[in-house]
Amino acid sequence: MASHGPDLVGLDIGADTIKLVELGFGYHGFYLKMLEAASLSAGAILDGDRLNTELIADSIRKLFQEHNIKNKKVAVGVSGSSVAVKLIQLPKVPKDELDEIIPWEAEQYLPFDPGKSFIDYQILPTSPEEKTMNLLLAACSREKVNELLQIVQKAGLYPAVVDLALLALENQYEINYHLENHKPMALIDIGAGQTSINFLINGSTALAGALPLGGNTYTSAISERLGLSLERAEMAKRGRSIGKANPKALRQILINVSLELIHKIKQYIKSFSATHQTEVSRILLSGGGGLLRGFDHLLSEGLGLPVERTNPFKEIAVDNKKFTLEQISYMTPLAAVGVGLATRRLGDKS
Ligand SMILES: Nc1ncnc2c1ncn2[C@@H]1O[C@H](COP(=O)(O)OP(=O)(O)OP(=O)(O)O)[C@@H](O)[C@H]1O
Ligand SMILES: [Mg+2]
Repeated sequence: MASHGPDLVGLDIGADTIKLVELGFGYHGFYLKMLEAASLSAGAILDGDRLNTELIADSIRKLFQEHNIKNKKVAVGVSGSSVAVKLIQLPKVPKDELDEIIPWEAEQYLPFDPGKSFIDYQILPTSPEEKTMNLLLAACSREKVNELLQIVQKAGLYPAVVDLALLALENQYEINYHLENHKPMALIDIGAGQTSINFLINGSTALAGALPLGGNTYTSAISERLGLSLERAEMAKRGRSIGKANPKALRQILINVSLELIHKIKQYIKSFSATHQTEVSRILLSGGGGLLRGFDHLLSEGLGLPVERTNPFKEIAVDNKKFTLEQISYMTPLAAVGVGLATRRLGDKS
């Protein structure tokens, strides 16, 4: 993990909430310099995966202005179904040969067209006597990265690092959980539009991807089935009384969507376990979508695994004169990806 170079603002542009995190690095490790968030207004996400770049850039610009944030160098995360990460094994070949064969290998392992994707890889350490090498392959759509760069530039910011949000989750884990045992486990971030899953073996990513289900799946189901506006459905989901909603029907919808999501997560875990011949030992949960009351218990029961909520500030020094307890507890479930992005430094490989 790099700790040199100027600090960057970790900018996590979620489908629901924009999160900003800035970390300093001092003698005792990372400390929190800045933490802000703003909800995106309705209309930020157009049909499917397309984004309203003007509206999102505007919200980001306002957030920087409102809080008088001077540092305009940001580390942004690409996420969604256009991103995937996978550990593969290849016979040992020299680096320049690898650069040539990787795009074609990637096509075989990840469902992406190499002509329309950025493909990157990282060679993982192996002992010299081994005949094979382990590579972490990553692919993401060029269109998605360009869209993100457009938003950042329109907001008047400088995109110093473009990272995969899935790997930012791992960066966050590394700094906060490095002292814990590294049995195979999964980091699960339930956002508004997606659920990101990152499987770690020995504390490093072995497979990561996203399911297109999240907090919005609940809100749309409530809105459709109970005939409520999306705003009221959102309030009902968060347990606020909104008069008309039948509590029994509401509870049933929440359980049904949760079971569907848990089923998909379980399938993904099964395929990971089968390909890597290992068992996941526990889950670290983050993201606002996982805040649904009782969801962590349901997930634990459904998977038969311990589920713990991630604390992205666990090993980060937080000055409680600068940040209120309310601010930290509001941001704790939301900030995992933002913290991971904020650990990146200018000059890091993008
Ligand atoms: N108390 C709560 N109960 C249930 N859901 C909640 C609660 N608070 C927030 N949420 C949900 O959390 C989601 C926002 O969380 P988060 O900020 O992690 O998502 P995002 O990063 O914007 O989305 P994505 O990662 O999919 O791009 C929204 O769907 C919101 O409805
Ligand atoms: Mg998110």
